[in-house]
Amino acid sequence: MQIADTGTALREILKSAPRPCVLVPTMGAFHAGHLALMQQARALAGPGGTVIVSIFVNPIQFDRAADLAAYPRPLTSDLAACGEIGVDVVFTPAADAMYFPDRSVSVTESLLSRHLCGASRPGHFDGVCTVVLKLFLLTGCDTSIFGEKDFQQLAIIRRMVRDLDLPVEIVSGPTVREPDGLAMSSRNSRLTPQQRQDAPRLRQALLDAVSLGSVEAILSSARAAIEASPLTRIDYLTLVDAETLQPISEILRPAVLAVAVFYGEVRLIDHASVAPA
Ligand code: PAF
Repeated sequence: MQIADTGTALREILKSAPRPCVLVPTMGAFHAGHLALMQQARALAGPGGTVIVSIFVNPIQFDRAADLAAYPRPLTSDLAACGEIGVDVVFTPAADAMYFPDRSVSVTESLLSRHLCGASRPGHFDGVCTVVLKLFLLTGCDTSIFGEKDFQQLAIIRRMVRDLDLPVEIVSGPTVREPDGLAMSSRNSRLTPQQRQDAPRLRQALLDAVSLGSVEAILSSARAAIEASPLTRIDYLTLVDAETLQPISEILRPAVLAVAVFYGEVRLIDHASVAPA
């Protein structure tokens, strides 16, 4: 496994890398969800292709300095996990290797990012799109894999690829959950034992609500179930069209019930599909 910590070093390594090149962009702190994406990448690249994993806690997608500072960075164990899975190249740049201090160009998506995490985390998706575009350009990857847990991120990346004619195929990987239903997240490790025990209620609240038929019934049932715990504070709870990610007042097409909650300083997200009657 080769490791690069600058764009120049990465380009040098990848000059002679066999195709297809499959990129898994990550911020590290791997859990089983990341490992599944890397295994999926390995299978897609085949034994002769190249799997690239980027590990970069991207400062420009954090809207809260405390969240950026607290983000776990267990690089040694992350690299070991990449080695075990058979990743070919790991890209681990420092922030100053990715961004000029006076950078003045970024990517903005202006429709799908209006609601959900885009509304409650100003600038977040500009930061995600900008770093992902840079990673596509630095690696020249053929395919890139993103988790379905961050479904707004996945939709926005697909839109960026479509609108900017990027020659990269986007593949999604299913959400991996703990046995009690909690979606795997690097942030779960920051929950207190009491918060961790409470957190699976989030998923259950969504699943219990999605079959209730009307937008009002779904939202009020999920809100009541989530607010029944004194440990959480809802950041948003929204029912959106599955394609446009705009809030809906009637369920005429596939939709998504999406939630973000705070447990103290830790923000968790989850979502569930809603089918039209
Ligand atoms: O999903 C993530 O971990 C990040 O948003 C990504 C795609 C690696 C960009 O920094």
